[in-house]
Amino acid sequence: ESSQKGIVNPFKNPESIFSVNARKGSHLVALRRLQRDQKDKSKEAVEIAGTSLGDVLGVKDNGNHVKETVEASNEQTALLDSREEIQRVRECLPAFKVKSKLVQTIRENQVTIVIGETGSGKTTQLAQYLYEAGFCAGHKLIGCTQPRRVAAMSVAKRVALEMNVDLGKQVGYSIRFEDETSTETRIKFMTDGILLREALLDETLDRYGCIILDEAHERSLNTDVMLGLLKQLLSRRRDLKVIVTSATMNAAKFSTFFGSAPQFSIPGRTFPVQTIYSKFPVEDYVESSVMQAVRIHASTNFDSGDILIFMTGQEDVESTSEAIKERLTEIYSKSKGITNFDEIDDVEIFTVYSALPGDVQNRIFQRLENGKRKIVVATNIAETSLTIDGIRYVIDCGYSKLKVYNPKIGLDSLMITPISQANANQRSGRAGRTAPGTAYRLYTEDTLHEDMYIQTIPEIQRTNLSNTVLLLKSLGVEQIIQFPFVDPPPIQTLLVSLNELFSIGALDNMGNLTELGMMMSKFPLQPSLSKVLLISAKNGCSEEMVTIVSMLSVPQVFYRPKERQKESDTARSRFFVPESDHLTFCNVYSQWKCSRYSHRWCSKHFVHYKSLQRAKEIREQLIKIMKKNRIQVVSSGTDWDVLRKCICSGYAHQAAKTSGLGKYCHLKTGMDIQLHPTSALYGLGEMPPYVVYHELLMTTKEYICCVTAVNPFWLIEFGGLLYDVRKIGGTHTDHADVEAFDPEEDRELDIKLKEIKEARNRMI
Ligand code: CDP
Ligand code: MG
Repeated sequence: ESSQKGIVNPFKNPESIFSVNARKGSHLVALRRLQRDQKDKSKEAVEIAGTSLGDVLGVKDNGNHVKETVEASNEQTALLDSREEIQRVRECLPAFKVKSKLVQTIRENQVTIVIGETGSGKTTQLAQYLYEAGFCAGHKLIGCTQPRRVAAMSVAKRVALEMNVDLGKQVGYSIRFEDETSTETRIKFMTDGILLREALLDETLDRYGCIILDEAHERSLNTDVMLGLLKQLLSRRRDLKVIVTSATMNAAKFSTFFGSAPQFSIPGRTFPVQTIYSKFPVEDYVESSVMQAVRIHASTNFDSGDILIFMTGQEDVESTSEAIKERLTEIYSKSKGITNFDEIDDVEIFTVYSALPGDVQNRIFQRLENGKRKIVVATNIAETSLTIDGIRYVIDCGYSKLKVYNPKIGLDSLMITPISQANANQRSGRAGRTAPGTAYRLYTEDTLHEDMYIQTIPEIQRTNLSNTVLLLKSLGVEQIIQFPFVDPPPIQTLLVSLNELFSIGALDNMGNLTELGMMMSKFPLQPSLSKVLLISAKNGCSEEMVTIVSMLSVPQVFYRPKERQKESDTARSRFFVPESDHLTFCNVYSQWKCSRYSHRWCSKHFVHYKSLQRAKEIREQLIKIMKKNRIQVVSSGTDWDVLRKCICSGYAHQAAKTSGLGKYCHLKTGMDIQLHPTSALYGLGEMPPYVVYHELLMTTKEYICCVTAVNPFWLIEFGGLLYDVRKIGGTHTDHADVEAFDPEEDRELDIKLKEIKEARNRMI
């Protein structure tokens, strides 16, 4: 694959046992998911019961709100007791000791690189110091970016608490589709993506007096782009302070990038950590870490320190936590006659991952009562973004989930891949924050050297860049290659992205932004979805399309408890619009709307209430953006064919045609794919000959999910650049639509196709 050239393989040593086990890991994840589904049924039942009660009582957003109020009031009392304690803790942080020197360095320089061990107070203290030192003068904001939503949110909460203000007032946060700030806000935590989007509206970022690019060493794509933008902005905004914070790695690189900006090191305070490697390769890292955790818990005093386990993703995290609970319950049942994990009073288990930014409990950061032991199971969020004190044992599985470009499908996907040596060191370091600790690495020492890169590959060198290129173009960067990147993206990736944007009409044949592309960049959505939305406005069906797009932006709409599979499948099938899963979503939403957004309606129809609620919020925000940009919100009434055509306009590059035997074949890559069994199109008497899909799911087979049947002419119309028009025309002689085939139209298409091809050649 030519598109692969230039992209760095995330596997340093793809054939090693360690790498092979990473792939095995993905299968085990799928297997455990099945097993867990089975257990979830009881939980779901409880949820359903709770839900209906809330509905009867007329409580808005039931469980959630109730829970939040309870938590808030608990926090309030804790807060009164602990104001002084909070102050004391703040003053114990390494950053506090160098506060005045740090503030002075920032005052004297336009750019400062701040280096410090995790937990030294960079994220929570720096913004406060600047605020106290008057850097908000003239109603300017102090912005602090985070690569992760969870971090942005939980850090804002923490800082609001430390400053004794309500979250959303002086201290707020903003993540995609969620803005907790107000006119009073002076310190704003946000994802790096949000700041990028703000730069789109206000090139010079005038609202900000200081910008802290936090966690820059993570080298997330958006932070990297932001670094370049800020570099360009410095001369126009002499008054702007830029602070780049980094763990020790990469610091020199950032300093050089900003013309030898001063590096300010916060003297660390860490304790020695003993590293213990596995003697043999580990086949199932979930199983091994469970065993290790249980072993530590059973063999050490339970108040001798907490345990932190690094897993790859949400699913492993949950499996690990469940398995530890089971194992401990088993052990305690023998010694203490306990039957249920909740009865165990010397240990509590927490999980942390990014799917649920709102659900990170404050409790996780607190010392537990009676010296109870914490076992925290986390993704690499806990590597540097979140610091949990009191950890003395770390278990490191050696992998993480990484977004990588998959040349086989031409898209990014999340893959379990080996971590880098830098990650491994960060992970181990977590064990020595408050006292000497031990890190158990579930891999051999040879693995560390042979199968792990020294540093993680920056995201910009391993993922698709269409979004980024579109954004840079909208920011007026004409020559992407000349943009000041810390590390340049591979030329090949840039070309693929330019081509992709051209093929969906966001760029013209000279590589300039088209009007469509300009409008697309206004939405915080992937280009295909913003296109679909814009085209639908032109075709009078944006009211429905904005619903579909919102539904596609939330996790899991339907639920399917194992015990009640049949029942839930039947419930789901009642919503089916036979030719389209996209329209099925639209159908679900409008029926929910008819129920006046009822909670009970959701439980009855096996639909996740939380997801729909979220979709509703996203929908409102998208409509706001549409109105602001004078994009019509109009309904197509009962005409749903026009919706399918609009869907096709954004997905022409993700199309497939039937290949016989109940299978599809990817139109662009020729790959064999199958319809996912949950699709509304599955089990129809006749398979629609052409479809577009939203998502490709790779497990043991390749499945397409969220699928819509399309007319092949639409594919030619919207994907002319991608496909050989003859091939589509050819297969489709034996298709009934041929009647509609107009030779005049054919000639027109031909001319159009030629033009497009020429343009492409000029461009590349
Ligand atoms: O950014 P850096 O890694 O240097 O440290 P930080 O995140 O500012 O953490 C400083 C301290 O605040 C640590 O001791 C954390 O445990 C604590 N913290 C907390 O108690 N609650 C949070 N939500 C975040 C941090
Ligand atoms: Mg930090």
